[in-house]
Order: sequence, then structure tokens, then C-alpha cells
Amino acid sequence: MASTTRYEPLDIDENVEHPSRRFSNTLLRNPRLQRYVLLALIFFVALSVFGIWRRPDVTGSGDTHGVADIGKIFWVNCEPLLQGVDCGFIVAPKDYSNHKIGTVSIYIARYKARRVPKKGAVFMNPGGPGHPGTPMALKKRLAMASIIGDDWDLVGFDPRGGGQTTPATRCFKSTEAFRRFFANTVVERGVTISSVSNLAAPTLRSLLVDQYNEFVRLKKEQGDICRMNMGDELRYMGSAMVARDIEFMSRVLEGNEAKINYWGESYGTVIGSNLINLFPERIGKVVIDGVVNPVVLSEEPTYKWPSDWLSDSEKTYELFLKDCSNAGPSRCPLAKFQGEPHQDIEARIEDFFDSIAQNPINISLGGRLGAGRGFLTSGTARALLLVALHSPNNWPHFSQTLASVMASNTTAQAALYDMAFPRLQEPPHPPFARDLERQAITCLDAPVSSFVSAGELADQTIKTLRETSKHFGASTGLSEPDGGCEFWPSNSEVERVEMRLDEANKKMKMEDGDRKILIISNTADPITPLSSGLLVNSLLADSSTLVIQDGPGHCSTSFLSRCMKDLQKAFWAGEVPTNGTVCRVDRKTFPD
Ligand SMILES: *[C@@H]1O[C@H](CO)[C@@H](O)[C@H](O)[C@H]1NC(C)=O
Ligand SMILES: *[C@@H]1O[C@H](CO)[C@@H](O)[C@H](O)[C@H]1NC(C)=O
Ligand SMILES: *[C@@H]1O[C@H](CO)[C@@H](O)[C@H](O)[C@H]1NC(C)=O
Repeated sequence: MASTTRYEPLDIDENVEHPSRRFSNTLLRNPRLQRYVLLALIFFVALSVFGIWRRPDVTGSGDTHGVADIGKIFWVNCEPLLQGVDCGFIVAPKDYSNHKIGTVSIYIARYKARRVPKKGAVFMNPGGPGHPGTPMALKKRLAMASIIGDDWDLVGFDPRGGGQTTPATRCFKSTEAFRRFFANTVVERGVTISSVSNLAAPTLRSLLVDQYNEFVRLKKEQGDICRMNMGDELRYMGSAMVARDIEFMSRVLEGNEAKINYWGESYGTVIGSNLINLFPERIGKVVIDGVVNPVVLSEEPTYKWPSDWLSDSEKTYELFLKDCSNAGPSRCPLAKFQGEPHQDIEARIEDFFDSIAQNPINISLGGRLGAGRGFLTSGTARALLLVALHSPNNWPHFSQTLASVMASNTTAQAALYDMAFPRLQEPPHPPFARDLERQAITCLDAPVSSFVSAGELADQTIKTLRETSKHFGASTGLSEPDGGCEFWPSNSEVERVEMRLDEANKKMKMEDGDRKILIISNTADPITPLSSGLLVNSLLADSSTLVIQDGPGHCSTSFLSRCMKDLQKAFWAGEVPTNGTVCRVDRKTFPD
């Protein structure tokens, strides 16, 4: 966070009524209460004089606020300044079961409703985990308003540990130190497999074990570094805590009675599931788009997650190859001619991956990060192909780059390498973090971890390659770098909440018959499969409605569907779509 001089006193915005102010207003009007308050004050003064009750020491918390500030908002100037948007820090307890432990200051940006009557506030999260959410109310505010409507306040916030919220995850002294730690390691290069054509070969297992040995060593060291520099601070950053923050912020901004409204995509759906799980009776409207299986996340160790996430990745890749074939070389240079069998395009790409599995491509870094050379590995290139499948709008550009890379174009090779390691970009753009914000969340969401050996990691990867995705079963490590949670500080001492959406469903059903949860899944999402949307829909059988976007890409927002946008807007306006509604997409993946 920037310097504290940016802070302004709380009470500049007269529209905001936060609980502590409302409380004191009531007190001032009631003489009997005033007497009690006076007695209580004398009591606390006495306690503190005798040292029995002491303000906890928050100097080590990394947050500039104290427990006396809990529930307050410190407004600051937004960057950039924008008409109708205000920014601030909401001070919340670090631990909701023990306020004395200290505070977190959650950075929020609120794009105010432009139409009266205002319906309420919608909290938003873009995924990650670990990505800041304030840009959704700043840079992306018009896009968000176009699907939610202009009669809602749109509130983006930086979840604990990331963005400008404090304390931030800072295991490393700087982003450069963080990147240097992983530079040219298996974490940065991605996991390489020799060839998809011999997934049964014993050499594959030994190749993987070698890489995972390095992985386990790095993760152990990573845990030690985080323990040393962050210690207990990392105990309070899981998704359940973020859900509690939303409930708290809703009361601060909208009052105790207001229903909680939420919009989340990708990992943001995990926050949504936690919110529904913890506060079913407080839910107003929730949209979750690109659903992550919340049961797998809370019950399985991190290294088993990809086998669930990748369920539709092969389907998406096949669609990419077929569309490329139909488009032909003028629009998709990976194809030799229009209508070329997609299997032939696939085989050529695999030949290329196999050749760089043997001989990674040297990339001149021109002295960046003090390193002379980097290596474009098969692990990296394959992982980037998976990431490219997330965004169909980018398929034409990506296919051009990959085709140039395969034709030994060194400019294109350097460009592809930089896609994976944007070492010079500050701030780093997602999915590449500035520190271990992601692990700070995933290691708390996963169950308590026991040691996982390199052999077990290799066997699980082989299983995922064989049973779920032969092309990408080893490829999530680069953009979804989880693992090593057994070495994570306080691994066994954090709050873990049982995920019982079926129970939440019963509570919501009893309250009223409305379907408050809108679930959106694509038919070909390479990382959040339709099966996860169906699962959450079945657990929330009476309180949710599932709508399906028939097309490729990660989350419905990755590819235009006017039908889906209209349907979502109608939902926020009060019209619940029929469960099972299917929306078509409006564009071709390789347009003319
Ligand atoms: C790539 O770099 C490696 C190690 O730095 C070197 O041994 C190899 O000759 C280089 N290959 C090419 C084609 O430049
Ligand atoms: C090499 O790749 C770059 C970047 O993708 C591209 O602009 C350039 O035209 C390519 N050069 C050739 C000779 O194809
Ligand atoms: C909603 O629709 C989907 C897709 O047709 C279906 O599989 C699912 O069972 C339905 N859910 C409920 C709760 O009826």
C-alpha cells in the first residue's frame, strides 16, 4: 500500500452509515444508555490502568490500523480519479473469532449506482486466487455494469493477502527476488513430458520424478522463507475468511439488514461457495461463472485438483484444432490448408513439443534479471497453449505466434517466452503474481497436508495425463502453481470450514422459494468444467439455476454471447431464468 498520508478521515462521505457511527447516534439520544456508557467507560479505563485489558500490539501486523478502527472506512483518492467511483480501506478483524489479534485493511473501489432506487451493493471477484478485485470497479466498471445493471453499487475489493489490502503476502523482499527464486526452475519452466505418445513408458515416470524432486525442494525452501518473513500472518488468508470479510463489508457499507449480493468468476466462485456455505440466510443474489469444484478444493490435496479442473480441456483443444482447420492458413497459420484433418495439425504441434522437450529453445534475455539466457521449454509452451485455450478471442493471434515459433522465428520465440515470464512488467499481470498470494489462499483452502513425495506427484500426473487430459495433464503448474502446502506456515492451525452446500440449500429453501443463485458454465471451458457447475447446481437444487453457454473459453465473459448477457441482466433485475437454459455464442473463433 502507498504511504499513509493518502488517508483521509472517515466522515467525509455523509452517505455512508457504518455500524459504529449508527451506534453512537443512538447513544446520544438516550440518557439511560448514556449512563451505562459512562459506567462502561470508567470500567475500561480502570482495566487499562491496571493493565488487565490492553490494546493488543498491532505493530507487527503489517496493517497501519488498530482494533479501535474495526468497522471504519478510510476514504482515499482512487487511482485514477473517476466520476462516480470512490475508494477506501475498510478495517476488519484479522480473525473474526478474536478481534484482539489485529486488523486487516481491505482496499475497496465502489462504482456507485446511477439509477434510483438503488437495489443494493454487489461485491465482485475476478478470480486468481490472489488477483485484486478493485479493477472491476475501476477499469472494468462499464463492462460489469453492462451485465449487472446501473441500479446497483458495484464493489470491487482486493481480497486478503493481495493487491493493496494489508497485510499483503510478502514472503519475498521484492517481486524481483520472488521471480529470481523461481527463475529457470521447474516451477518457471513448467513440467515437461517427453511425448504424449508414450504415456506408459517407464522413462516418463523417471523424467517426472526428477522434476518433482526439484519441485519438492523448492517448495520446502519456499515454506521456510514464508515462515521467516510472514510467520503467523499467513493464518488468516483463506477463502472462508474472505467470505467473512464480504459479510462484514456488507454490514459496514449497507447496514446490518441488507442482503449480501455477489458476483464471482473462476476462483471467485470459490469465494461465492464459501459465502453461501457460511451465510445462507444473508444471501440476496449470487452469480458464479466458470465454477471451480468447491468440494474437491476443500477435501482433496492441491496436487489432485488438476484432474478435476481439466475435465473439459481435451474437448476445448479439439474445438480449437477443428476451428483452426476450418479457418485455414490465412486465419489460422497452424493449418497447412483449409480442411486439413485436425489430427494432422495436432500431430505437428506434438512433434514440435517433443523436439523442444529434448532441446529447449535458447532465448536471449538481453541481460534482463541479470540472466543471459532463458529457455523456452516444452513444459512452458504446452502450458501456454492451455492458457491460450481460456481466451477464444485470442485464438487467431496465438495460432499465428505458435506457428511462427514452430517455424524458428526468433522474434516470435522471444514473444512467446515473455508471455510466460513477463519479467519486466510491473505490476505483473495475471496469472503471474508478484509474490505467493495464490498459495497463501490455496494452502488454507486445501485440507491439512501431509508430505507428498516426488514419486506420488509423478504418479498423480501420469494418472491425470492418462485419464483426464493427455495433452495438459502436466501443464497446470505454470499458471496455477499450487503445492507444497505441507511446508506452508501454520498449515494445520488455520480455520477450515466444512463445505456443506446441501445444508445451505435447505436453509435458503426454508426462507423463501426464490432461486437466488445463478450458476453459469461453458460447454468447453478448459479449466473450470461444466461438471463443476452441475455439481454445485445439484447441491443447491432448490436455490440455484444453471445456465449454459454453448461455446469455448474460460467463463462466459471470455467470449461474447448476447443471450447470456441479457439473461444475466434479467436475473439482476429479478427474473430467474429457467434451469438448463442454453445460450449460443455470437462470434466465430477465427473470424474473417
Ligand atoms: C543453448 O544454450 C546452451 C547452454 O547455455 C548451449 O550449450 C547450447 O549450445 C545453446 N544452443 C544453441 C542452439 O544456441
Ligand atoms: C516473426 O514473428 C514476428 C512476431 O510474431 C512477426 O511479426 C514477424 O513477421 C515474423 N517474421 C517472419 C519472417 O515471419
Ligand atoms: C438443471 O439443468 C441441468 C441441465 O439441463 C440439469 O442437468 C440439472 O439436473 C438441472 N438441475 C436441477 C436442480 O433440476
